[in-house]
Amino acid sequence: MGKKKMIHDFQKMKENGEKITYITAYDYPTAQFAEAAGMDMILVGDSLGMCVYGYPGTTPVVMDQMIFHAEAVRRGAPNVFVVGDMPFMSYQSSIEKAVENAGRFIKEAGCDAIKLEGGRRIISQVKAILDAGIVVMGHIGLTPQSSGQLGGHKAQGRTVESAKALIDDAIALEEAGIQMLLLEAVPPEVGKFVTEYLSIPVLSIGAGMYCDGQLLIVSDLIGQFQAFTPKFVKQYYNIAEVITHAFKSYCEEVRAGTFPQDKHCYHMFEDQLPGFAELVKKYKK
Ligand code: KIV
Repeated sequence: MGKKKMIHDFQKMKENGEKITYITAYDYPTAQFAEAAGMDMILVGDSLGMCVYGYPGTTPVVMDQMIFHAEAVRRGAPNVFVVGDMPFMSYQSSIEKAVENAGRFIKEAGCDAIKLEGGRRIISQVKAILDAGIVVMGHIGLTPQSSGQLGGHKAQGRTVESAKALIDDAIALEEAGIQMLLLEAVPPEVGKFVTEYLSIPVLSIGAGMYCDGQLLIVSDLIGQFQAFTPKFVKQYYNIAEVITHAFKSYCEEVRAGTFPQDKHCYHMFEDQLPGFAELVKKYKK
């Protein structure tokens, strides 16, 4: 197990051209697997709303859910940099609320940083969270919490005008002091420009190959999430097939009486068997 990487390590990785590996996790075992695999960073994303709770989107997710999952992830991966994702309405409505909720990720769940969606329009919240001494990752491009305004889960920055808005947001966030930026579903041309223009590490989820690191949602990567698969996903495994197959075999064996077998049983202690035979006689109908 390697030493836990911190923000200055990610900065050095950018400078040395070493790619940062980043995945979401929502529970203890997955976090353990991520740490064992040598992952650099874990996001406890509000995508858990869809991937774990079966909501149609991320907006129903509340802070308490995020804290419970972040705590579990922290326990599973004590040596990985963990980022807590601020859910919808945990930071949009007021600066005080934003600082308080960002603080909960650090204080209650032991996260190393928080992530929040938006550019210039949430700059006051970003500055206040930074002033509280919390490491902040920005998130622009396709921002699922405001997908209604974006006209759905659509790639952003595909026109010059929209690319300019993204670039200006990225610059404003860096000037505000954020330590890392995540770009979601933007053209590689824009990903490359932003990555080269900013001094801080720029991570990509669907922003192409030129960024300083890559993020994938664990449920997409292992083939667990069934509802839809965005273009930027590479599915490395089909865990859904494996799990369904295991469940089917279990059902078949229970129905056929071939599970459990003797090796799955706890027998009575040998010297207790005569006593048990006597006991059973007393219950004879
Ligand atoms: O919640 C999440 O997993 C995210 C990613 C989609 C970037 O915010």
